[in-house]
Amino acid sequence: MNRNRKKHGVILLIWWWLTGVVLADPQINLLNKACSQYNVSSESSFYTNLNATFSNLRAQLTNNPNTRFATPQDSAHALPALVQCRDYLSSADCLACFTAAVSQIRNCSAANGARVIYDGCFLRYESSSFYDQTTQPGGEGLCANQTTSQPTAFTDAFSAAVKELLVDLQVATPRINGFFAASKKEVVGGVGNATVVYAVAQCVETVSEIGCQDCLTVASTNAERCLPGAVARAVDAGCFLRYSDTPFFADNQTTNILPFLGNGSSSNKTAIVGGVVGGVVGAIIIIALFVWFIILRRSKPVNRGDILGATKLRGPINYKYKDLKSATKNFSEENKLGEGGFGDVYKGTLKNGKIVAVKKLAIGQSSRAKADFESEVKLISNVHHRNMIRLLGCCTKGPELLLVYEYMANSSLDRFLFGKRRGSLNWKQRNDIIMGTARGLAYLHEEFHVCIIHRDIKTGNILLDD
Ligand SMILES: *[C@@H]1O[C@H](CO)[C@@H](O)[C@H](O)[C@H]1NC(C)=O
Ligand SMILES: *[C@@H]1O[C@H](CO)[C@@H](O)[C@H](O)[C@H]1NC(C)=O
Ligand SMILES: *[C@@H]1O[C@H](CO)[C@@H](O)[C@H](O)[C@H]1NC(C)=O
Ligand SMILES: *[C@@H]1O[C@H](CO)[C@@H](O)[C@H](O)[C@H]1NC(C)=O
Ligand SMILES: *[C@@H]1O[C@H](CO)[C@@H](O)[C@H](O)[C@H]1NC(C)=O
Ligand SMILES: *[C@@H]1O[C@H](CO)[C@@H](O)[C@H](O)[C@H]1NC(C)=O
Repeated sequence: MNRNRKKHGVILLIWWWLTGVVLADPQINLLNKACSQYNVSSESSFYTNLNATFSNLRAQLTNNPNTRFATPQDSAHALPALVQCRDYLSSADCLACFTAAVSQIRNCSAANGARVIYDGCFLRYESSSFYDQTTQPGGEGLCANQTTSQPTAFTDAFSAAVKELLVDLQVATPRINGFFAASKKEVVGGVGNATVVYAVAQCVETVSEIGCQDCLTVASTNAERCLPGAVARAVDAGCFLRYSDTPFFADNQTTNILPFLGNGSSSNKTAIVGGVVGGVVGAIIIIALFVWFIILRRSKPVNRGDILGATKLRGPINYKYKDLKSATKNFSEENKLGEGGFGDVYKGTLKNGKIVAVKKLAIGQSSRAKADFESEVKLISNVHHRNMIRLLGCCTKGPELLLVYEYMANSSLDRFLFGKRRGSLNWKQRNDIIMGTARGLAYLHEEFHVCIIHRDIKTGNILLDD
């Protein structure tokens, strides 16, 4: 048994060396890298764990040449982590890409979360599980600024081919075991070399089929913004998408996606795009009473390491008390937008002209309460969802705690149902508000890495954008 294993290892090594010489392309073009702004508290055990994690991942990729995805298994000290190679890479290229990613991610020093995304692979670790994350605000489309080699007259045909191909991949990929598809499509009326477009889509294997669909829907929208650019990628926590007018995978790696397209691909498109656009117009929920959350968790400091996917790693802004005071005209009645159980909300105009909503809370004087408050603000300021109001920052002065939010032009839903503007919403708007509210809640409850229970959903806490 032992001897066999050894032999196997030797064979692999030679093979690696051979392919390394012949046609290696681990595709280590760096697309995205981020280090958490929080450092670990104990560096020595962190590095021990990080090393154990990477060795475990490497062992899995090495021992099973068919695998392109791994999370740590059977390792006492492993951190939540994943590596995923694009399926069209050879086993050797996958390992080479992983090796490059490890050395890249180690440059994050003792950050308690980090990710590196190359064309060929994706590596990420965090301090708590992130395996079900799909779309995160750090997700983005990356346009290469080349234009297609098609003459202008054909850019429409090129764009149309790309869009069709992306829709096909959106439909097929979540249905394919392993969540990977590589495909190509002819450009109708294309000339010269640019007569075919190529694309791959891939979801992280630990997300659900629905999660994969959701992620690719957003990724496609992001990538399509690059059209008629010849090359684009879209990266996100749960998926990856790339299209190009030149091949970047071997022809024999093309997936036959036809059996997975089901009943018609192009009719699906309007539904998918409609869903995204409709959601943007929807309602916005304020986490007005997340103070509950603060109070509930006061005795249990949360693990706030895993903010990585959620942000461009920006912390909340610490506003100066005097700035907020002058922005709200000394918290004047005239600027008051509303009153809540935990404090009043004022409209404020910052020095830079930006309009914000300032919530004034009084929740006690102890330094402990303040420290908890600040750490929770950090957490909540990383809740980014299009149906969730953004917390921009905070300020503490004496017993007063101030929270600064985005300002919503149309105030809250109660005014439209019971107040002055009663009866002015049409059914489409009502439906959008319901869906937006549900999406925001689903995010808090299930998609954010810490489960947040709102506990005070009411019309006054549902804010409407313009
Ligand atoms: C984290 O550690 C790095 C290197 O040790 C240091 O440069 C950086 O300032 C630290 N960041 C924080 C927020 O403490
Ligand atoms: C972890 O691995 C790196 C690189 O191989 C090495 O420099 C470092 O000493 C290791 N740290 C620990 C704690 O094992
Ligand atoms: C890591 O950082 C060092 C020094 O800042 C730099 O020389 C090296 O190229 C970096 N490694 C990677 C893989 O970027
Ligand atoms: C691509 O972008 C670079 C840097 O932004 C710019 O210098 C270059 O001119 C651009 N190329 C084209 C073809 O637009
Ligand atoms: C087509 O590709 C070939 C080889 O890559 C190149 O030499 C030729 O110039 C290309 N033709 C056009 C019209 O781009
Ligand atoms: C795919 O084609 C390459 C040459 O382009 C060849 O080396 C490889 O063995 C082929 N793979 C399969 C699975 O047929």
